[in-house]
Amino acid sequence: MTLTTRPRGTNDVGPGQIELWHELEERIRRVCAAYGYQELRTPMFEHTELFQRGIGEATDIVEKEMYTFQDRGERSLTLRPEGTAPAVRAFLEHNLGSGSLPVKLYYFGPMFRYERPQAGRYRQFTQFGLEALGSGDPLLDVEAILLPLELYKSCGLSGFEVEINTIGCPNCRPGYRQELVEYFQPRVERLCSSCQNRLHRNPLRLLDCKVESCQEVLAGAPEITKHLCGECSEHFAQVLAYLDALGVEYRLNPRLVRGFDYYTKTVFEVTSQELGAQNAIGAGGRYDGLVEELGGKPTPAVGFAVGVERLLLALQGQGKLQPEPKGPSAYLIHFGGDTKLKAAQVAHFLRGQGLWVELDYLDRSIRAQMKAANRLGSRYAVIFGEEELSRGRLMLRNMQDGQEQEIDLEDLKQLAKILGECGK
Ligand code: HAM
Repeated sequence: MTLTTRPRGTNDVGPGQIELWHELEERIRRVCAAYGYQELRTPMFEHTELFQRGIGEATDIVEKEMYTFQDRGERSLTLRPEGTAPAVRAFLEHNLGSGSLPVKLYYFGPMFRYERPQAGRYRQFTQFGLEALGSGDPLLDVEAILLPLELYKSCGLSGFEVEINTIGCPNCRPGYRQELVEYFQPRVERLCSSCQNRLHRNPLRLLDCKVESCQEVLAGAPEITKHLCGECSEHFAQVLAYLDALGVEYRLNPRLVRGFDYYTKTVFEVTSQELGAQNAIGAGGRYDGLVEELGGKPTPAVGFAVGVERLLLALQGQGKLQPEPKGPSAYLIHFGGDTKLKAAQVAHFLRGQGLWVELDYLDRSIRAQMKAANRLGSRYAVIFGEEELSRGRLMLRNMQDGQEQEIDLEDLKQLAKILGECGK
């Protein structure tokens, strides 16, 4: 560890990158508004028990990946590894279900998981997530897919695929679970060690193991379809019918299962061709039992979360979402002393008008100041020459065509107008 290195699996986002984030955040707000989702901001940390109960004790996240610590009051707290359980906690704490249903919430912020870092997989990463609580309508499952697709498309992303599956409900899943255990048990020797460990605790998770030897065993594993209860198969059929009617392309993937215990019925994932092993740019599903699990009334719900860093990686890979480089409206060039004082006053006025104005803080030569103005992409230079100032004037130079005009120092509004117009 050194003082100048960030912790493993984290990222800094600074100039050159942050513009993309701002652009994306703006698009997120726009698409959420169109679908009627409102923003929710929850704390970075929650009581550990919320995630143990919400996500499930036998999941990788709870067993191995949480940043859990004791605070000075000896409470066990955990940096949020995901946003669904906190959203449900807030829904219950503020009795949001007492108003009009469904309640549609979205969030944007950092999540924390102690995972092995690699391209697209970090220990602190950002999710844009959405949760719709209070309706079991299959159309809401479909809208939870449509909304992020709308976002991907609005950013210009192509080459992504929607995968979808159903994992049943507490009525029909136990039968399937049992059949899976019976299938895998005689083949246990051929499974990787983590699948061997999971066989009895969480057999569904074996279905998405990427280890080659497990893949061979998986090929013959039973599928859930014939175990689904009437309600689950009807629900899934309706989800698919809506997707078809709305022209959404998808791939049925009977091996798609998710690493959270809260899911019921529909689960989905969106992958991008642009990315390597960590190719999921978003995922979600229905979780009809979670509100009740956390102490509320039975309340069906569905949601989705987008991995923002992965989405940006995919977009960069395709050369998309490249905001135009912006520069200041003006660079104020001074000669030190009184001219600097005057430049500071004018900068103060122009910035008050909302204009981006720069000036020199390093006592550089005029030549060097001109160079700095060019480097920043400033559209104008305003020159505070002593001779002009003595006549109550300033020199305004257009950096593109080199044209110059004098401005009356008493008429800074005129200057602001010229600078403002060129920024439009
Ligand atoms: P998740 O699949 O764990 O689901 O995460 C959603 C997305 O977050 C992933 O598809 C991926 O893009 C991104 N992501 C996850 N882990 C990392 C990581 N270590 N580094 C970078 N990106 C990552 C959930 O979190 C659920 N709460 C989604 C949901 C919302 N289900 C219902 N509502």
